Amino acid sequence: MALDPHVFMSTLEKRVGLTDADKALLKSEAEWGAKLAPEMADHFYAYLGRDPEMDSILNGDGSGRVHRLHETFVNWFQEMFTGMDGWGNAYADRRWRIGLVHVRLGIGPQHVVPAMATVVHEVGKRLKADAKTEELKDALGRICMIDLAFIEQAYVEVSSSAVLQETGWSEGLFRRLIATGAKSM
Ligand code: HEM
Repeated sequence: MALDPHVFMSTLEKRVGLTDADKALLKSEAEWGAKLAPEMADHFYAYLGRDPEMDSILNGDGSGRVHRLHETFVNWFQEMFTGMDGWGNAYADRRWRIGLVHVRLGIGPQHVVPAMATVVHEVGKRLKADAKTEELKDALGRICMIDLAFIEQAYVEVSSSAVLQETGWSEGLFRRLIATGAKSM
């Protein structure tokens, strides 16, 4: 069941429809993205902070996480425009790691999906204000969905392999149990 982030990246590119033209467009707007990143980070953490559960994850351990995270968010945001190594293996490995970090902290789909929606919404407002093209909006939407899929898939992969490891069940048995469980819900 172990996921290969590199293969997963190319699968997602095809599924989401991220094209070479999208990549070129994102790169050409990398400077705009870099300028925008700190403001987007402010919106993002203000949004998380308004949710009591997410606020306690962010601020509950008293280690100044939000400050640390501000910087990591800025890097993450910029990487969507630069693609790091052309949206290649380094990009995939980085996205996979981000996914794993969130799984370890118990941050699941219910947190991550609305958080990504906030990013898309706030970027959308700035795209409009700065008279950017629909093509750029679409390209950004696609790369955000790829990044979201990495975090979501990490959750599924880690949970499944933890169960398999702990129980010694085969993957086939596990899938059958899930199918039966879903039927009875
Ligand atoms: C759009 C969705 C999200 C993105 C793109 C994102 C981005 C990131 C990145 C880039 C890191 C650093 C990972 C590393 O250390 O390698 C991180 C860590 C973290 N994120 Fe997120 N995040 C998202 C959603 C959330 C949500 C919903 C929460 C809920 C509170 C959250 C809380 C955290 C925490 C607590 C850490 C670890 C901080 C530490 O180092 O102590 N993130 N995130």
